[in-house]
Amino acid sequence: MSADALLSVDDVLALLRRGPGFADEEDVDQLAHALQCAARLEQEAPLDLELQIAGLVHDIASIAAPDSPATHAPVGGRMVRALFGTRVAQLVSLHADAKRYLVTTDPGYRATLSRRSLETLVAQGGLLSDPAVARMQQLPELEDALTLRRADDGAKVANASVAGLDHWEPVLRRVAST
Ligand SMILES: [Fe+2]
Repeated sequence: MSADALLSVDDVLALLRRGPGFADEEDVDQLAHALQCAARLEQEAPLDLELQIAGLVHDIASIAAPDSPATHAPVGGRMVRALFGTRVAQLVSLHADAKRYLVTTDPGYRATLSRRSLETLVAQGGLLSDPAVARMQQLPELEDALTLRRADDGAKVANASVAGLDHWEPVLRRVAST
């Protein structure tokens, strides 16, 4: 499957169901990672369905087109924009730059990253320049993007028990319809 725009929730579910084939050198496969990330955001922001769905689909480009860690965030944003709207797309697009932002501005953050996240950080551009940090700080979605990023970093727990896609299907349909 290519990294084309996703036009239906069924397309999203089909891609996520391919996630178990993609371990990405982490302790969890892509589906488990997506479900853990969404579950963390549901706990943290129970009313923000868009943020939860952004967490569920944030790495969808890595399933559709593996081996492109440097571009998977903006590509993923483009894939989900038509279906889930601008805000979800922005949150997905920002999740790699949010890592760069946190590494640049939070001295303790780097130590929380997995080995794989540190490797891809280099390909994604590493530290941000001062002007790039300032540009990020102007973004209305920055705080939510950082919340998603921290959920992403924590969503790599082997054998964690979280809700499955059955739980998320109606939420996907609700966000797609708004
Ligand atoms: Fe992720």
